[in-house]
Amino acid sequence: MENATLRSTWKSLYQVAPQQLQKMSQVNGVVSAFNANIDAVIKVSPELLLKWVALLGADLQELMADGPRTITVPQDVLRGFLKCFSTGSAMEWLVHDESAFQWMRANIGYDRLQMGGQGGIIGNVLSVCGAKQVFVHCASLPEQQAKLFLDRPNLLSADPQGKPAPAARIAREADLPLIHWILEFDKGSSLEIGGEIVRCPKSNRFIATWDPQNFRLAIDPAFHTLIQNARGVETVLLAGYQMLSHPLLDGASGLARVDESMQVVDAWRKQHQGLCVHFEFASTQDKAIRKHLLDHVAPWADSIGLNEQEMIDILEVAGEEIFADECRRDMHGTTLFKALEWLFSYTKAKRIQLHFFGMYVTIQAKHHATPIETTRDGMILAATIAAAKAGTGSIEKEENLLWAHGREVADVALAELLAIATHLGDGTPVEDLMLTGVWRGQAFDVAAVPTILIDKPITLVGMGDTISSLSLIGAR
Ligand code: GLC
Repeated sequence: MENATLRSTWKSLYQVAPQQLQKMSQVNGVVSAFNANIDAVIKVSPELLLKWVALLGADLQELMADGPRTITVPQDVLRGFLKCFSTGSAMEWLVHDESAFQWMRANIGYDRLQMGGQGGIIGNVLSVCGAKQVFVHCASLPEQQAKLFLDRPNLLSADPQGKPAPAARIAREADLPLIHWILEFDKGSSLEIGGEIVRCPKSNRFIATWDPQNFRLAIDPAFHTLIQNARGVETVLLAGYQMLSHPLLDGASGLARVDESMQVVDAWRKQHQGLCVHFEFASTQDKAIRKHLLDHVAPWADSIGLNEQEMIDILEVAGEEIFADECRRDMHGTTLFKALEWLFSYTKAKRIQLHFFGMYVTIQAKHHATPIETTRDGMILAATIAAAKAGTGSIEKEENLLWAHGREVADVALAELLAIATHLGDGTPVEDLMLTGVWRGQAFDVAAVPTILIDKPITLVGMGDTISSLSLIGAR
């Protein structure tokens, strides 16, 4: 099949995006929990990095060495950054020592503050897309945080009395601002390390997180009451578990915190019949937590979302080292799809969506309540809006949402589709999947959507959150 033919086929399939966006107004109630925070974003040039290296009297070569993925001294910030910069990957490391955070505060600075945390980002996205009520959980909500929420009547959180109020207008002044540093870097910039040139292969970001509230997955009791009493809640989107450690910094059990949060959500399930619980995996560095999420939260959720790096991390804690290595060497359609099949059978999940460069692919259990074509249409909406986010830098205004509508999907994206179609067809590409993006198998159904790619994305942070939440909520 010619790529030109395929591109025009997919352009037609993508025509559904505006219609799917309109259907967002049928969404009665969504909960976005648990993490909202402030992101301090800065673009880090090699010169800026070298300035910090000099300030700390550090050695670039030593900073390239492997070590624990946490931050206890300022050098660790540079070490984490270099790891991401040299491989073009995205990671989040937790700052476990307040003095390292104070060093960042005094020396790193930022270009802008923006909404952060899966919960906060998803809250804003679903609100601008027009869901009737979006309830967003905030472990902390001082004015500095509230100002980052869109000031829209459909975006609600709990006021101190447990009553719903626009999140942008609640200011809980005693609360601590939770600030995460997002260090962005550009593809192609380079550093000389030990006589060798290290060139960054892909624009991405490193996140250094200091967040005492979310480190213990603090849940606002007023919000819990609010959700118990709310009407029309259909879906809960969960994230924020990646900030836990086991044990917690105060010595208590991190695993128990996960279980307690599940009890809270189970109480919501009791109140709201048929509630769909989606779990967003996120970059979870603590291996005990990661394993617990895989074994307990993933099978308990109705839907799971993750990216390729998170998939590899999962294989690693499941004892599938060889498979993890295979994925690391080949982060593409065939290998990653095999990993997705593995995860589907390991967790017995009803729906899992994996996104990676150029491709979103969802595996759904047979006889799922959402037809597989509808799932595909939700993914098309997500791909259109994610491209708008990358291309315009902000989707806070409704008029930006369909910015990318009418663009063609990328050739590299079609190559990923071909890889998956070839795998499913045992060596001969399944034509149906290529032309419609859906495939029905014996054990599961598949929706695969090649994406529109933006050459020089203005922003990348929060992309995965937008993709996972809109794919699910936009499938109707
Ligand atoms: C993590 C980070 C947060 C960032 C988000 C983006 O939640 O803690 O700072 O905004 O990822 O996906």
